[in-house]
Amino acid sequence: MQYTSNSLESHWMPFTANREFKEDPRLVVKGEGVYMWNHKGDKIIDGSSGLFCCPIGHGRKEIAEAVYNQLLENDYACPFMTSTPGAFELAQLVTRITPEQMNHVFFVNSGSEAIDTALKMAMAYHRARGDGQRTRFVSRERAYHGVNMGGVSLSGMVKNRETFPVVMPNMVCMRHTWNAEDAFTRGQPENGAELADDLQRFCEMYGGSTIAAVFVEPIAGSTGVLLPPKGYLERLRAICDEHGILLVFDEVITGFGRTGNAFASDTFGVIPDIMTIAKALTNGCIPMGGVVVKDEIYKTVTEAAPENAIEFFHGYTYSGHPAACAAGIAVQKIYQEEQLFDKAAGLSEYFLDGLFDLKDMDCIKDIRGFGLLGAVELHSKGNPGARGTQAQKDLFHNGMHSKFTGDTVIVAPPFVSEKAHVDEMLDKLRQTFEKA
Ligand SMILES: Cc1ncc(COP(=O)(O)O)c(C=O)c1O
Repeated sequence: MQYTSNSLESHWMPFTANREFKEDPRLVVKGEGVYMWNHKGDKIIDGSSGLFCCPIGHGRKEIAEAVYNQLLENDYACPFMTSTPGAFELAQLVTRITPEQMNHVFFVNSGSEAIDTALKMAMAYHRARGDGQRTRFVSRERAYHGVNMGGVSLSGMVKNRETFPVVMPNMVCMRHTWNAEDAFTRGQPENGAELADDLQRFCEMYGGSTIAAVFVEPIAGSTGVLLPPKGYLERLRAICDEHGILLVFDEVITGFGRTGNAFASDTFGVIPDIMTIAKALTNGCIPMGGVVVKDEIYKTVTEAAPENAIEFFHGYTYSGHPAACAAGIAVQKIYQEEQLFDKAAGLSEYFLDGLFDLKDMDCIKDIRGFGLLGAVELHSKGNPGARGTQAQKDLFHNGMHSKFTGDTVIVAPPFVSEKAHVDEMLDKLRQTFEKA
């Protein structure tokens, strides 16, 4: 196929400058390990594990074979009132590594669906307990919780909201946790735990008994890696406990090893009531997400319904799709057998050392990072985001892919990276920024 602007016209691309892209296409046609190849044959290092979803890298045969075999054996079965063995096996593998009291997972097809499902679960739980007046939800400025209407309602990123003003009512945002004075802080900032008191103020203003749940990413990822200040998540947990509010951690990016442990909740020592997962669940090979809940939530919702009745009126045609489960099972086994979360933890120091070494560059406004997740924010030049957009393209043409948000690049190496790969990523970033 010739990749001309004409032949590319029919596909309306997501979160993309379509007109620009079709003039200067950046098509990926092959992936292997931490590398990808574009349609011109150039080799590109994958600096953000795709979109934070491919920690094992690309082209792993075990995953492809598991999916292939599954499709030949049993390609689909209705997930309502029937199921397939893979869904139960994957649920066991996942809940084996989730926090102790979180032993139930509901499968969906994306992070956005996980968020909408979590919103409904919170509503169903409170209603089952006779607490249905809890109709308010709290999230945070600069939050990203996907693009379905529930996620947009929780969103704290202006561009994701302003075109779509009809969102869920009764949503309020706490302040975000980025503070200019803490620029170039590696890991969690010392100051800022008191930002969690925004939740306490909402309780005092609206009544804590009207709030159903608080949604936060333990590390805000898509907005450019904003770390929780020390003590912040603990304080949120305490306020939630005091007022009977559910705490939801959106671990769509941080889940499955990115912070050096299975989940950020392990790393930060704070256990939520509900956790949303996606991306690395299947190494991005087949779309899949999930919502993990505490046993008490599962039990309350299921036991509130009459015997033999459906308990939760929610689900997708492709919930627990056999191919996705086969990919998920293969991926979870690779994580375990190759101890990849430990490998991520082991590489973190080296990665963060290199990332923070970039700070001598004048174009850089801030660097943040934790585990194998880092961000480099450039000073804006022209309209906010213009410099970042150009840098992302230049970086790609320079042989590296990484996700940008505004003027910030987010770097998230695959866990299978060696130190030399990290060096290559950081060299390419430096070369690109020198001209940015
Ligand atoms: C924290 C978080 N939640 C939800 C989502 C939405 O996931 P998806 O794009 O799979 O719908 C994302 C995607 O980046 C995310 O980072």
